[in-house]
Amino acid sequence: MRPCRRPSRRVVDILTGELIRAGGKGSEPMSELMTGAGTWPLPEISYDRDWCRIDLETVPNMVTKPPGPRSREMHARAAEVMKGYSGQVRLFPVCFESGRGVTLRDVDGNTYLDFSSGIYVTGLGHCHPKVSEAVAHWAKRLMNAHDFTTPVKMALLEKTAQILPGDLNGVQLYDSGTTAVEAGLRLCRGATGRSEFISCYMDFHGKSLGSISCARMTRMSGSTRMPGFYMVPRPDVYHPLWARDDGSLDTERYLAFYEQFIDEATTGQIAAFVLEPIQGWAGTIMPPDDFFPKLRRFCDERGILLLADEVLTGMGRTGKWLCMEHWGVLPDAVTIGKGFGNGFPVTACVAREGIKETFTRISASTSYGGNPMACAAALASIEVIEEEGLLGNALMLGRYFTRRMAKMQEAHPIIGHVRGLGCLLGIELVKHRASKEPFEEAGRMVYVKAFEKGLAWIPAGHILRMSPPIVMNEAEAAKGMDIIDEAIGETERELGY
Ligand SMILES: Cc1ncc(COP(=O)(O)O)c(C=O)c1O
Repeated sequence: MRPCRRPSRRVVDILTGELIRAGGKGSEPMSELMTGAGTWPLPEISYDRDWCRIDLETVPNMVTKPPGPRSREMHARAAEVMKGYSGQVRLFPVCFESGRGVTLRDVDGNTYLDFSSGIYVTGLGHCHPKVSEAVAHWAKRLMNAHDFTTPVKMALLEKTAQILPGDLNGVQLYDSGTTAVEAGLRLCRGATGRSEFISCYMDFHGKSLGSISCARMTRMSGSTRMPGFYMVPRPDVYHPLWARDDGSLDTERYLAFYEQFIDEATTGQIAAFVLEPIQGWAGTIMPPDDFFPKLRRFCDERGILLLADEVLTGMGRTGKWLCMEHWGVLPDAVTIGKGFGNGFPVTACVAREGIKETFTRISASTSYGGNPMACAAALASIEVIEEEGLLGNALMLGRYFTRRMAKMQEAHPIIGHVRGLGCLLGIELVKHRASKEPFEEAGRMVYVKAFEKGLAWIPAGHILRMSPPIVMNEAEAAKGMDIIDEAIGETERELGY
């Protein structure tokens, strides 16, 4: 047992240094402040670092073919009332009762290995003791104080500014990825005085009118994109639109197209490029390594801001606090969410030094953004990532997954492409490797088969998306990949490959 005890050094310094000075209580003993009414941002807890390890002989454990009878009954009752379920639930209406670490349990008694993290959210596993205690602590003390400062908010704001790269130090807190993106759009408009935006084909940024206007539109999105929002093709190494003679993707030609597009299709008043560093919803679409460095230069030369939407990719999922750090690129503003609170709804829009004052001009606050429980969840999650070395663990797992997926690609003819960074992974299924034709039917079959074998995960048509918790160890990761490998093999046999 490796006990993990707070306090984090920096928070202690804040509370014993800055607060005491601000309150003119320089000589007050530290213990009085620590035990004072709610001053201490997080409860002191001790837990076994191996709290989430599982016995791979007994997980997954399927006692009934899922979705089992209780799942079906409860989902049918819920679905009488709630409309608008995701395709994922419609495909596999299981009803979950609890989660612990890297496992989930359904109401029929089945235990699953979790390769979904909710939906890219619970990277530290379900109900991490430190995060759960932190939320409970504030749930009993103070649940909402609008955007007044609270000790836990102060500590979170300073911590967030400290861990993010460069001068990304102007933070505003929100309660969903979508609202953080909306704030980012308004921030970029306010900072530049311009009102047009460019994003990329297949992007996803949320479901409000502004965020949906930066994303792929479908009939379900409503009528039209909002005026001033434009989409351009994004370099995709597996499906290059513009390639050199040797077939490799030519990033320069994409940028030349952007130049021409801005001249021909817009007023030239572009406030920002709004992009996901790796496209999650689209199927873990990775950019070529030179894309973001070149786009950064392109934006700088034209006074365009770069708003990186890291709601999905940020806070450790790819093995860095921000995915953009992999390419050494600093955005002007960034949105974070999902893993930020490990399941508690807390998100942020963060601006760099030179534009952060714009937040004061866009009426940035909300009812729930930065509430004490949310701040506690995020602060505890950041401390866990640091204390347990989880950025390094995500990178280590990423190397394992990359090797394993490459082997699977050699063995399975329907795997066209494999990709990923850290614990953000994708396997693209095709009918023929030469044509790269999407294999939707195979995608659905693999998804259902693996779920039935006890892998809870995320479907995306012909691209299998995986988002295992970053607290996994290699043996647990291997178990999940074994299940997927088996499910692909069975699918191939049934489809005659
Ligand atoms: C990149 C990205 N941005 C924004 C959002 C919207 O976040 P939320 O669902 O929390 O509103 C998502 C959600 O999946 C996302 O993946």
